[in-house]
Amino acid sequence: MTEAEVTVRPAVEADSAALIELERTAFDSRSGFPSFRVAERESFFTERCQPQNVLVAMDGDEIVGFARLTDKYPFPEGVGVLTVGGLAVALTARRRGVGSALLNAIKAEGERQGARKICLDVFGVNDEAQRLYARHGYIVEARRTAEFTIDGELMNDLGLALFL
Ligand SMILES: CC(C)(COP(=O)(O)OP(=O)(O)OC[C@H]1O[C@@H](n2cnc3c(N)ncnc32)[C@H](O)[C@@H]1OP(=O)(O)O)[C@@H](O)C(=O)NCCC(=O)NCCS
Repeated sequence: MTEAEVTVRPAVEADSAALIELERTAFDSRSGFPSFRVAERESFFTERCQPQNVLVAMDGDEIVGFARLTDKYPFPEGVGVLTVGGLAVALTARRRGVGSALLNAIKAEGERQGARKICLDVFGVNDEAQRLYARHGYIVEARRTAEFTIDGELMNDLGLALFL
């Protein structure tokens, strides 16, 4: 599989179980919150994150990645700012351009919605993800020191943004 062979589409309700499993297995303590991995959920989707807010990367019939793309703010003053809340690629499908295909789709969707800015957070130790975001034009807007405690260690967090 290369980036050209990955297709990205909006999620549908029927993707829920596969997305829950992918989210549970794709993140580790360098990329996501341990508490999220053990949380029991009936659906991947929530009131603020409906299927149309999730982009799904497909390799043939198999879901190999996803990204949530929602409004950052639930009030009118924040219209035009979107946030990526969780982008992940299956362990078996990494380093083949799936993450890149998802970021291209996120940008296209942001442009389609007329957004001016796409924001996301990434842990300071997550070098792979930071390289991917930098390659796609995201810049560091915020550096938050000792923002979280992960497995007993303090974790720095970066706020990134892509201006459209
Ligand atoms: C970060 C993450 C999304 C990247 O996904 P990915 O599909 O591996 O991303 P890509 O394949 O587009 O790019 C990753 C690397 O593979 C390389 N690559 C892409 N296609 C390639 C190919 N066909 N052959 C060889 N290398 C390739 C890219 O150049 C890039 O290299 P680099 O890390 O040296 O810069 C994935 O590692 C992941 O899910 N991590 C855990 C969750 C996470 O960290 N999410 C982000 C939280 S903010």
